[in-house]
Amino acid sequence: MENICLIGVDVGTSATKTVAFDTCGKVLAEYSVEYPLYQPHNGWAEQEPDDWANAAIIGLSEVIKALDGKNVAGIGVSGQMHGLVMLDEEMKPIRRSIIWCDQRTVKECEEITEKVGKERLFEITCSPALTGFTASKLMWVKNNEPEVYAKCKHMLLPKDYVRYCLTGTLYMDYSDASGTQLLDIKNRCWSKEICDALDIDMSILPTLCDSCADCGNITVETAKKIGLTEVCPVAAGAGDNASAAVGCGVVEDGDAFATIGTSGVVFALTDKIKLDPKGRIHTFCSAVPGQWHVMGVTQAAGLSLKWIKDNLCVDISENAKKRGESSYVVIDKIAADIPIGSNGVMYLPYLMGERTPHLDPYARGAFIGLGGANTRNDMLRATMEGVSFSLKACLEIFAQIGVEPNKTVLCGGGAKSSLWRNMLTDVFDTETCTSSSTESCALGAAILAGVASGVYKTVKEGCVKSVFENDVLSPNSERTAAYKKYYSIYKKVYPALKEINIELVNL
Ligand code: XUL
Repeated sequence: MENICLIGVDVGTSATKTVAFDTCGKVLAEYSVEYPLYQPHNGWAEQEPDDWANAAIIGLSEVIKALDGKNVAGIGVSGQMHGLVMLDEEMKPIRRSIIWCDQRTVKECEEITEKVGKERLFEITCSPALTGFTASKLMWVKNNEPEVYAKCKHMLLPKDYVRYCLTGTLYMDYSDASGTQLLDIKNRCWSKEICDALDIDMSILPTLCDSCADCGNITVETAKKIGLTEVCPVAAGAGDNASAAVGCGVVEDGDAFATIGTSGVVFALTDKIKLDPKGRIHTFCSAVPGQWHVMGVTQAAGLSLKWIKDNLCVDISENAKKRGESSYVVIDKIAADIPIGSNGVMYLPYLMGERTPHLDPYARGAFIGLGGANTRNDMLRATMEGVSFSLKACLEIFAQIGVEPNKTVLCGGGAKSSLWRNMLTDVFDTETCTSSSTESCALGAAILAGVASGVYKTVKEGCVKSVFENDVLSPNSERTAAYKKYYSIYKKVYPALKEINIELVNL
């Protein structure tokens, strides 16, 4: 085992991260490649599938170079969910991918609801028609770019396209397929009923499998290209959140994690299907065979902090760069000096519409409460507080359906900030911890590769061997009480602005 390693490739929204781990979860090498996000209109979001594939190839080459002859036992992929990748008969992407946070498909959601029937759609997919999910994106292309749609021979999700580029095989695991709105979640199969109602040719859908399935060896040609002397299996992998769950050790009923990446997610594993009758949280198949999970999504979590950094903090970023510091570390220090409640400034993180709890593509971000004495520093803290409140709203829905985790693992870029971890602990009013690897999506993918290649017998065994708990925090009753007062005001802001935002978007 000593000379063996496992590689996880996480196809994120801002970058693809490739990380090699030993069989005890220790990072041996990592490499990250960024790429653009195209937003041709407000509410639209697209990426180039080949940017992901190239980033994975570069990442794998760099990581393998740094491995010093270690034997790669397996590679696993994880990635942003829901993004529509369409391939033509030559297996080339036909257009840019319309990704998870794109909100253009309101009309297509109405069409899906009408054609499938509201109740049947919920019974089969455990969700109402959602703009973020893949089916409405496919229908948008069908309605608006019929010549493009006519060329589509295969439909994949982002990490599946990357895996296809490594192996030449077409698969999709159940966790990621859950977010297409074409999967029968309870029965873990493509829904013929939905495909028929929407006139989608089922032959474009890939073979379904478990996240720890072996999807074939990396091709000899690609192995050479990335510097592997021997081919190795590539695991199906999972959607980023299901994969992060594995990388955080969230593999037993009731285990939970919260992540702040570009999006923010609160996730709990369940051994039975649990549903919010209003569909405000998702019920998906998990990366652990035969298990499920519920998850609530904040569309713009880390994206909110990035937005304020890029638009209002150019000077901070430039100065931080000169000093070789991360601008996020500087912003963190500034926000830590502002009291709870951000001196009366409150932020709503709805830059890309919102899923949980509002399911509203027309929701928009807002700063409220600004007075002449407030400064940018208050807005920085308010941004972090607004995102934390938005994640709290997910936990409240979990509680309504009887899912009440008593500890939440914190991960994603946001968990690198001790201010944000403390804030989440107090706002959630639960114990929190971090897990040993900050790259939980990549670690999850590597563990799944470990199962696919026979290094571990089960996903749980992989977690026991390679995931450890750090930074346990308990809520502080005084701070929790202070945040509660602001949270109750926060909950009143969205309904007050709802109609105004619809008017603005439609003007
Ligand atoms: C989950 C979701 C996001 C993306 C991007 O439903 O849309 O978390 O997976 O990370």
